[in-house]
Amino acid sequence: MNFSSGSIEFTVNGRLHIVDRNLNADTKLVDFLRQTALLTGTKWMCREGGCGSCVVGFSAINILTNKKESRAVHSCLLPLLSCDGSEITTVEGIGNKKDGYHPVQSQLADMNGSQCGYCSPGMVMSMYSLLQKNSGEGVTMKEIESSLSGNICRCTGYRPIMDAFKTFAKDAPQELKSRCVDLEDLGDAICPKTGSACQGHCESNGLAKVVDGKIFKMGNWYRPESLEQLMELLSSFGGEVKYRLVAGNTGTGVYKDDGPYDVYVDINKIGDLYQVSKESPLIIGGGINLTVMQETLSSIGSTNPDYWYAVTLAEHIEKIGSVPVRNAGSIAGNLMMKHGHREFPSDLFIVLETVGAKITIISCKREIQQLTLEQFLETDMNGQIILHVTLPPLSTDHIIKTFKIMPRSCNAHAYINAGFCAKISPQENIRIVGKPTIIFGGIRTSLVHAIETENFLADKFLDDEMTFQNALKVLDQELCPEEHLLNPDSDYLKTVAQGLFYKFVLTIIGDKAAPEFRSGALNLERKMMSGKQDYDTDSKEWPVNQPTIKVEARAQCSGEAKYIDDIPIRVDELYGAFVLSTAANCLLDKVDASLALKSDGVIAFFYASNINTGNVFFFANNGLNCDNNEEVFCSGKVLYAGQSLGLVVARTQKQAIEAAKLVRVTYKNHQKPVLTIQDALKDSTRIQKHSVSGSRQVVNVGDVEDGLSQSDTVVEGEFEIGSQYHFYMETLVAACVPVEDGMDVFCATQDQEAVQSAVSNCLNLRNSQVNVQTRRLGGGFGGKISRSTLVAVACAIAASELSRPVRIALDLETNMALTGGRLPYYCHYKAGVNKDGLLQAVDLKIISDCGCSFNEGTAYIAASFAKNCYASKCWKITPLLAKTDTASNTHCRAPGPIQGIAIIENLMEHLAHVRKEDPLDFRLKNLNRSDENEFSALQHIISEVRRSSNYDERYRQVNEFNCNNRWKKRGINLLPMVYPMYYSSYRYNVLVAVNRNDGSVSVSHGGIECGQGINTKVSQVVAKELGIDISLVSIKPTNTLTNTNGSVTGGSKTSELNCYAAMRACQKLKKKMLSIREKMQYNNWNVLVEKCYNSNVDLTARHFYSPKDDLTGYVIRGATVSEVEIDVLTGEKLIRRVDILEDAGLSINPLLDIGQVEGGFIMGLGLWTSEKMIYDPTTGKKLSRGTWNYYPPLNNDIPMDFRITMLKNAAHPFGVLRSKATGEPPLCMSVSVFFALRNAVNAARIDCGDSDWFQMDGPATIDTLHKLMKIDPSKFLF
Ligand SMILES: Cc1cc2nc3c(=O)[nH]c(=O)nc-3n(C[C@H](O)[C@H](O)[C@H](O)COP(=O)(O)OP(=O)(O)OC[C@H]3O[C@@H](n4cnc5c(N)ncnc54)[C@H](O)[C@@H]3O)c2cc1C
Ligand code: FES
Ligand code: FES
Repeated sequence: MNFSSGSIEFTVNGRLHIVDRNLNADTKLVDFLRQTALLTGTKWMCREGGCGSCVVGFSAINILTNKKESRAVHSCLLPLLSCDGSEITTVEGIGNKKDGYHPVQSQLADMNGSQCGYCSPGMVMSMYSLLQKNSGEGVTMKEIESSLSGNICRCTGYRPIMDAFKTFAKDAPQELKSRCVDLEDLGDAICPKTGSACQGHCESNGLAKVVDGKIFKMGNWYRPESLEQLMELLSSFGGEVKYRLVAGNTGTGVYKDDGPYDVYVDINKIGDLYQVSKESPLIIGGGINLTVMQETLSSIGSTNPDYWYAVTLAEHIEKIGSVPVRNAGSIAGNLMMKHGHREFPSDLFIVLETVGAKITIISCKREIQQLTLEQFLETDMNGQIILHVTLPPLSTDHIIKTFKIMPRSCNAHAYINAGFCAKISPQENIRIVGKPTIIFGGIRTSLVHAIETENFLADKFLDDEMTFQNALKVLDQELCPEEHLLNPDSDYLKTVAQGLFYKFVLTIIGDKAAPEFRSGALNLERKMMSGKQDYDTDSKEWPVNQPTIKVEARAQCSGEAKYIDDIPIRVDELYGAFVLSTAANCLLDKVDASLALKSDGVIAFFYASNINTGNVFFFANNGLNCDNNEEVFCSGKVLYAGQSLGLVVARTQKQAIEAAKLVRVTYKNHQKPVLTIQDALKDSTRIQKHSVSGSRQVVNVGDVEDGLSQSDTVVEGEFEIGSQYHFYMETLVAACVPVEDGMDVFCATQDQEAVQSAVSNCLNLRNSQVNVQTRRLGGGFGGKISRSTLVAVACAIAASELSRPVRIALDLETNMALTGGRLPYYCHYKAGVNKDGLLQAVDLKIISDCGCSFNEGTAYIAASFAKNCYASKCWKITPLLAKTDTASNTHCRAPGPIQGIAIIENLMEHLAHVRKEDPLDFRLKNLNRSDENEFSALQHIISEVRRSSNYDERYRQVNEFNCNNRWKKRGINLLPMVYPMYYSSYRYNVLVAVNRNDGSVSVSHGGIECGQGINTKVSQVVAKELGIDISLVSIKPTNTLTNTNGSVTGGSKTSELNCYAAMRACQKLKKKMLSIREKMQYNNWNVLVEKCYNSNVDLTARHFYSPKDDLTGYVIRGATVSEVEIDVLTGEKLIRRVDILEDAGLSINPLLDIGQVEGGFIMGLGLWTSEKMIYDPTTGKKLSRGTWNYYPPLNNDIPMDFRITMLKNAAHPFGVLRSKATGEPPLCMSVSVFFALRNAVNAARIDCGDSDWFQMDGPATIDTLHKLMKIDPSKFLF
């Protein structure tokens, strides 16, 4: 066989790159971009195609049309070697500060679509690629929503991102269109060739040479150019060589542990795999990607009557993964994943089998076979290639319907998918002709067709209710779902499968079904998302209170903003990768790293027994409510599965990660892990009281027992709230560099002081020898307070032991396993009201699960919030902590407030339900009236939102809807909130330094910019206080020198307190300048500065904010109205509308504060609806690790209609500059959606004849909702 060796050539942003050395076939484009091309704008997080942060533009010649095509792809999945001949565009390539920003970048920045900015490059490139692809035709709003549906943003709540990008849509409403920057604004900055910002250094025509006639070979990478060559190559392997065909390579994002492979065969240049014949029968090549397949089906559906059904298939294919997955993922690749992993709920397999498509394969002996999909599953595919799929023509008397039921709106695998096809007799209309097709995925590995049901229904009359009921029974018998820990239980799968069949039958029956059942046939209909933001701004106060864009927004949207892992790699730098335990509640037996130490590039392995340093990263009594020391590396007792056992250090990150897998660990003395509070309660040593400290005192009043005994109605119950992973897009990362006086630590942390003290303790250095620096975080949400310290200390230990710089950047899976999240909660409650429905006594036992140490408990915070805005004669609130064998949990945005408020609101719902009172009326009459001002302020907010949201009318409509629809239910809720804000014991330094030459001002404050906009707010305050333009202010990275003894960034207070300190520092500065200023006849900043300098005035000033400053706290009030709809047959939900009214005082920056409200609310939405932590009960392993099994909300999960209003005329006398905090309170109001869902579920239960109170815990995932609605297939009536 003829092989050609040579180089891989491709361009990145117009610059030619030639790779001519043997590269590991597994090298991904993202690593090349970041590490070799030094283009760190492209980020990575999940490395499995699930988050979108690595999206880049990819252009290549279509081998059939010979035309260049552009699309968005995930650079974390794309092998570098398959980029030969392509043009890659990264976020740096389309615009930057020097050449001008691309409108997509500036639009996203200017419309406040970038908070922490870590998702922004991926967002920009997804949008940019869509515009590139559709250049000339324009894009629609729907295309934009769909194209962005695979990009996770944890900060913004998506609304501003969608609005920013929709300004480019041809069908955008005028209001949005008018906010679009003219594309021509870029002028000369756009490269005439690429249409993007010119880099001025194009070195090639963008396309590398194509090797002719020979199979390209580089190491174990082969690239045949024809089918003939491919077959020849495969036959040369002779069945001995384990090979992987590489099409889009997206399969590696799902099944990461497939392999190892001896060789890789790139099949992207084989034209035979890309053939499409649009005649009848329709033939689509196996190499065709899912986007092209979807487009082909959409177009043929409207042009070829034989394929009238193709649109249905196209709509289903649109639900596969995300646009970049479909842009790269091929038909053959998807089907082969199903072939290799029978449990894989392939959507493609479902739609193809529904219509009886066939697969054509060819063997390396040139034997061609056409197979049904079921035959294909049974065929040995070694040495075989999928050539194409053939779809049969079908007459229009067929009815076809397919379903995909997934845990969130998009970019998730199906819990269950299904396809139904039946030929209906044209005469009698509802009689099935022959056998129908009924297929399911996700139920059981061996189930494809529900054969028994198909047989039973052959030639039957479907509109006969008895026949249908009997068919359901047959189906019930043959489904036999397999239980899988990560999937909903078999009851859910079975009942939903039957429900989908019912939906299909209702579709056929149409108007013959009774009106209340008809909506069962329909899927929930999500309309285009829209949002409104309403706030006051007073120009007299500007630049404070001015809706100013984040100062770094454009840098974030162009990839110029640097995060810790973007710091250039030093020549002698090494990488660390953790070895994690795979068991919990046992003892470490042996740790054997001999294999790992022998592998390529490995330098060392550190673990508890071989380090010469300390081994504790978190110290008891360190001020964060800590009772236990926490170890860096486990020294004996394994507390949880996922605990750090050691660190492999190697030359590259990949080498370190691979070697870490080779460390052999054995365990002994296994005991069953305790994973829930309920189980912990059985062992008294795992429970302890949570002592109440600080300002958030839990005040118990009256004699609860007495109060209960005098109550007219008493309720008792339980309520549980799950954990939540922070899902910061930038995972934990630290880089440590030994320096002459100690250690420089670059760390993504919200608490530099904790890092500094832990590192110095471990390395036996003085605090002053550890220099911590953080420019910004890619999100924190509390998850980078204590847990960053673990990574920083492990990194510092390695750097110190080896006297070399070391970096650790966690992948998502490791991050999720290693660290805990939001504390899960359990509450037992008992409460009573008098005959008028007024609260007499409330007894709450609130337990928070701290994980494996009693550190960072939040139960007392929850307890202090658990009264919310209500009055009771007696209160008894008992906060407790539980210890389980899970990763030590930690603070997560609104840690405690959200649970406290949810707990009392759940109780209010319970009491209202039992008393058959309207929940809102019940809430209103129980409002706390002890302080008349407080009461009327809250009442005002409630009545405002009630009016502006048209609550009363919508409440009536919801009830009417529910009366008329058995299989769709709606719910509405109005939830009030009070959130007392105390400043407690925080401390921050702000240093303001004026440069005498140009009057510019450098500021270093004590907070960490993590997306909340602290840098912008501090700049506004400095500008206002000094009377200068904001552009003169420059904020420097936070470090432990200028912010010595500074506190954590968190609790929504940091921005305010640093603004306060900045104001005070400026005042001190002005005082120093005053005497000079008074002598000046006119006001000119630069002249003033110069004169001060010449008069030897120190042009720097600082202020140390401490409790001595004696700021007075205040109360934040808000109210939210949420309306939802549930598909009763599947448990799927739609958030129809949310109205939030929040009091932000005189907001320092209303634009940023609106962003905080929206983002906080959507993060809460995840907590209440889709983010569920699942553990293996035997090993204690966290199973929901990664984007495939853990589901933060995506853009299509947010309310369809999302309206935020900031209370007008709300300046108040307390706090800082009359503003109020916005970071955490809105998250607490997200529980309103949960109660709206509860009301919808209740309506469904009433239809089942059950009007009793029921316990509904968070998160209300689709299977939880479904289970509570008590679906009984025998009630599937027409
Ligand atoms: C984030 C994410 C979300 C996803 N969501 C969904 C979803 O919701 N529903 C769904 O159904 N799928 C989903 N997928 C799967 C996706 O559709 C597949 O990964 C994709 O179609 C595989 O195609 P590929 O070209 O990338 O295959 P590759 O990864 O290149 O290859 C996969 C396998 O197919 C083999 N192969 C490739 N081409 C051929 C050929 N012509 N002949 C024989 N063997 C071949 C390879 O040897 C390999 O074993 C998702 C994937 C990701 C990463
Ligand atoms: S890093 Fe590529 S999609 Fe997440
Ligand atoms: S701005 Fe999107 S993740 Fe932070």
